[in-house]
Amino acid sequence: MKESRLILALDVYERERALEIAERTAEYLWAVKVNWPLIIGSGLKIITELKQVTGLPIIADLKLADIPNTNRLIASKVFEAGADYVIAHGFVGRESVKAVMELGETIIVVEMSHPGAGEFIQPATDGLIELANELGPFGVIAPATRPERVAYIRSKLRPEIKVITPGVGAQGGKAEEVVKAGADYVIVGRSIYTSKNPRESARRIFEEIKEVV
Ligand code: XMP
Repeated sequence: MKESRLILALDVYERERALEIAERTAEYLWAVKVNWPLIIGSGLKIITELKQVTGLPIIADLKLADIPNTNRLIASKVFEAGADYVIAHGFVGRESVKAVMELGETIIVVEMSHPGAGEFIQPATDGLIELANELGPFGVIAPATRPERVAYIRSKLRPEIKVITPGVGAQGGKAEEVVKAGADYVIVGRSIYTSKNPRESARRIFEEIKEVV
């Protein structure tokens, strides 16, 4: 089939539910993203299990924002568990981000998708884009809820750095619009995992993206 650009944000607590949803939707996904709820609910070994069940890359969305040594201590265990990518905040400074990048593929948050992003993060976005261009991570996080910001971020970013966008569905963003604006990957959580038929919801978003690519 594919080359999917869809990432499932698997924000459930329960191991069995997570594995079942991941298995059912895997055909339409590029990767599975795990965040604190699933790691708190099911333990770090869920990363290893999800990899085995889906065969897909696993993104650990920990939004690391600590001193370099603590970022390193956390990221090393997460990569060891099998995560292929770790998400880190850039606002804590380049050394904290480098500590993660030295251990594995990293994604830097340059702007968030919720309304509160306008308070502190958006004013810092230009500097965070510069940081990403300097360090060359796998990708950056940009807000699917604001396609015009995704287009702006894409235009300022080195072309090989991927733009990864949460905020589609429950937060109001549209997959079609954000891909047209330049997103390489689209993250969707609640619209898939709370749906009566997660596989069908994933398929629909996958098709929507395919039409515009
Ligand atoms: P929903 O349910 O809203 O889930 O589709 C979105 C997922 O993405 C995470 N998220 C973000 N992660 N920067 C990030 O690094 C963001 O701006 C952002 N907005 C949402 C969210 O925690 C959930 O896992």
